[in-house]
Amino acid sequence: MKYTPFHYKTIQEVENKEKELSVHFPLTENTADLFTPIKLFGRSVPSRLGVAPMEGNDSEESGAPSEHTVQRYLAYARGGAGVIWYEATTVVPEGRSGKHQLLLNKETMPAFKEMNERIKAAGKEANGFAPLLVLQANHSGRYSKPHGFPEPLIAYHNPYYEKNNPIADDRIVSDEYLDRLPEKFGAATKLAKEAGFDAIDIKSCHGYLFAEVASAYTRKGPHGGSFENRFRLLIDSIKAAKKYEDDQFYITCRLGIYDGFPYPYGWGSDQENRLELTEPLKLAKILKEDLGIELLNITMGNPYVDSHVTRPFDQGKYEAPEHPFVGVARMYEGTKAIKDALPDLLLMASAPSYVRQFSPNLAAGAVAGKYADFVNFGRESFADPNFPNEIRKTGTLSRRKVCITCGKCGDLIRAGFKVGCVVHNPEFKPYYAEYLKQLKNK
Ligand SMILES: Cc1cc2nc3c(=O)[nH]c(=O)nc-3n(C[C@H](O)[C@H](O)[C@H](O)COP(=O)(O)O)c2cc1C
Repeated sequence: MKYTPFHYKTIQEVENKEKELSVHFPLTENTADLFTPIKLFGRSVPSRLGVAPMEGNDSEESGAPSEHTVQRYLAYARGGAGVIWYEATTVVPEGRSGKHQLLLNKETMPAFKEMNERIKAAGKEANGFAPLLVLQANHSGRYSKPHGFPEPLIAYHNPYYEKNNPIADDRIVSDEYLDRLPEKFGAATKLAKEAGFDAIDIKSCHGYLFAEVASAYTRKGPHGGSFENRFRLLIDSIKAAKKYEDDQFYITCRLGIYDGFPYPYGWGSDQENRLELTEPLKLAKILKEDLGIELLNITMGNPYVDSHVTRPFDQGKYEAPEHPFVGVARMYEGTKAIKDALPDLLLMASAPSYVRQFSPNLAAGAVAGKYADFVNFGRESFADPNFPNEIRKTGTLSRRKVCITCGKCGDLIRAGFKVGCVVHNPEFKPYYAEYLKQLKNK
């Protein structure tokens, strides 16, 4: 491995390394501010800590949450998160990431409703408040596997994604197909509202269809080329969803502001692949000022191709081309640029897990330094769903229980197993053993 794995014992050591690398992400000793209430979606939320969307790959084949799914979310609710951002849920069958990805439709809606009632009750009972629940509506696009094998639906050919395996031209979705999607996301919004969610996220990140259209500079027609064309799908879908908004139910977006590939094959970057946030800032302004979006969840990268950008790691499928602190710093720098330009837009920052027991300090630093209003924890929520209560009670996280960014949860999802923390949750060890066996026999 090119970089020494995370080994820092004090905030000072982390800051020294930041200096050595000439990067910056905020850290504060005092984590109590993470429990300063804030108004979101018409409610007072007592904590700035969120559970990030993390696909568990454990739904029923119908797409309804299984009891396994429900138990996962019950653990998050008891753990004291202020916001639980549900994992990617498909709203059109052909855009499903696998046979066990959650799917919201008329048939599965009652199961979501029942789950949400249990989640809210569990949060109230354990912590005296119900977490806000956000449904993440997604179209998997080029990563669609509705029948368990790849059936990609792409916006354009991207050489960084396809490399030597170009996808057939007939997998490029038509303009008519894209024109019909907003109505479908609108219909899903109605169902999400009926199911008791507090908000729906019209997801545009991580290389899935909406995010891919964002960088469709080379596509011809009404969904490619100009800014207006590339955001037609997202904006029209948000408008379709907005019809269902009221003072109890809101629309939000998990927005990838930097894909990690040079222009014109990545969004939010220049030709040298540096952050270039002119368009992300323009879009954020439109979402806030023209469409009345109250909260954006900011993320970056494509976990299939440059996962070090989305989730800086110590162990992954490849050797990362940069020190993980560079990735953490980029994530927070990008988020702050949006916040500085639009201070009244609420932001949720992503990707704190790499800094392990200092992730509460990073989250608190982000809130205190006005980078974001909330921080959502991804891999750490698999490692310890009780992390918010632990931070509340102790001010920190135990070094022995934190996520070690080993990438095994990511391995499980790609191999089609139920997903969780292989290091800290014994339930997932046999799946990982089976995964290794399959690898050996390949
Ligand atoms: C196994 C796994 C599943 C994920 N599933 C989703 C998902 O469903 N939707 C999403 O927006 N991000 C997903 N992510 C990304 C996380 O939400 C998060 O952005 C990322 O892990 C970085 O945060 P962290 O450093 O706290 O882990 C997933 C990540 C992993 C490792």
